[in-house]
Amino acid sequence: KLLAKGSASEEAAILKGKRVLITAGPTREPLDPVRYLTNHSTGKMGYAIAAAAAAMGAETKLISGPVELGVPAGVTRIDIGTAQEMFEAVMADLNFDIIIMTAAVADYRPKSVQSQKIKKVPGDLALELTRNPDILYEVGQVKDKQILIGFAAETERVLEHAEEKLRKKNLDMIVANDVTVKGAGFGSDTNVVTFITAEGEHIAFDQMEKAEVAKAILKKAVSLINKA
Ligand code: PMT
Repeated sequence: KLLAKGSASEEAAILKGKRVLITAGPTREPLDPVRYLTNHSTGKMGYAIAAAAAAMGAETKLISGPVELGVPAGVTRIDIGTAQEMFEAVMADLNFDIIIMTAAVADYRPKSVQSQKIKKVPGDLALELTRNPDILYEVGQVKDKQILIGFAAETERVLEHAEEKLRKKNLDMIVANDVTVKGAGFGSDTNVVTFITAEGEHIAFDQMEKAEVAKAILKKAVSLINKA
């Protein structure tokens, strides 16, 4: 019991005085007043990181798409709907020691949002989509001392695609997430991840609770700060 207490307080201290920013959840891209495009993110992964960061003593800001989760203790949450809103909320303040982006941001949005409900027409209906900002990429272009960590939700050639994103987006670390594996990715309480650092280190984990993945990411982020 004493040992457990000791290790908890050790963890509680490691982010004291640090500022941590996390993005989480899906975005919703409206088509008309009643419909939108989105994805299966529930926010569990990002909220687990926010909860762990606050428990480890960080001043923690969570920018979140629409999810069913409550705000974790000690966390400041900003709610957004679209990718563009998430982009603006992130760019408003980049003065953080650690930035971790778990949000499943829609890469595209409908090119025009109809002001009235789209009516059924005979035959097919084609939707024209336009690109959303890549928030993580844009932060990577302007970052200074921040430790920048992204996720890669992949369905094939997971490590290869994750490494490509790590380089292109100028990250310190990427968390590769094979979302086809049972107990990993969207909606589950567990995840199966591999950390890949800019220095080329690979750390593969077995299936873990998202709360444990969260702690492992934050501990690694602290070690990356100490190395810098
Ligand atoms: O929310 P849960 O249900 O718990 O599910 C967790 C999760 C599967 C969403 C999470 O573990 C995860 O893998 N998040 C990343 C989802 C994603 O959109 O990955 P991506 O490979 O498309 O994007 C790569 C990185 O760029 C991500 O860090 C993403 O936040 C960021 N990105 C992507 C597109 C975009 N326009 N802007 C971004 O910032």
